[in-house]
Amino acid sequence: MTGRMPLIAGNWKMNLDIDESVKLVDATIAGMQDLADVDVLVAPPFTALSAVRQAIGNSRIFLAAQNMYSEISGAFTGEISGKMLREAGCTHVILGHSERRSIFKETSEMIDLKVKAAVIMGLIPIVCVGETLEEREAGRTFDVLQHQLEGSLKNFAKDRTMAPGTILAYEPVWAIGTGRTASPGQAQESHEFIRKWVGKSFDSETEDRVRILYGGSVKPENIVDLMAEPDIDGALVGGASLEADSFVKLIRFGKK
Ligand code: PGA
Repeated sequence: MTGRMPLIAGNWKMNLDIDESVKLVDATIAGMQDLADVDVLVAPPFTALSAVRQAIGNSRIFLAAQNMYSEISGAFTGEISGKMLREAGCTHVILGHSERRSIFKETSEMIDLKVKAAVIMGLIPIVCVGETLEEREAGRTFDVLQHQLEGSLKNFAKDRTMAPGTILAYEPVWAIGTGRTASPGQAQESHEFIRKWVGKSFDSETEDRVRILYGGSVKPENIVDLMAEPDIDGALVGGASLEADSFVKLIRFGKK
């Protein structure tokens, strides 16, 4: 890695009540006291955001939402805006997670609008891309990644400027929640492709600076090998981020 601070992010999905969320954050803080060389982020459900924000206090944990809508306010029943997320204390927002794309039919065009709105609201987007097993087996992985990147970052690419801090996440759909992790080599290959795409679409400084997280069955047992790859800058973790023991081990990857 070339000076990019590793980031370990926990995506809690639709799990944990407020009490459990606060306890998990407290235990995470206790387990990372002595660390200064890793960034940590948690993405609780909307209902726990404010309580988690309070529990974080002055510790070095960033707070993210798992989704948002692209409008600021109005008649959009059931939706939450970036402005509301800022008010709840979020600094980041995960956008385009494969569960949003597949279950809730979000398209790259919709994600692009959300990315734009997030940046306007002062949130840092974590934009996810990844291929399905069928697409991988058909040899279409890079095509799919390119298509999703072009579609989801259209507003940035138009001006050839990526908002500062923007984070990308490569999450092969076949590895999410399945226990089947991409091998470090498979993940590296896709991360390298994504980084080179950033270089072509933006510039070499952005290519070098952008952090690209790997997501899909990351566990304490496989994180060290994944993080050893040159283009993997961190992990976006689902299942293994729900328990303090494993999340702290992930944050402390390669250390005692
Ligand atoms: P997983 O989920 O770690 O449970 O595979 C990763 C994600 O969906 O972000």
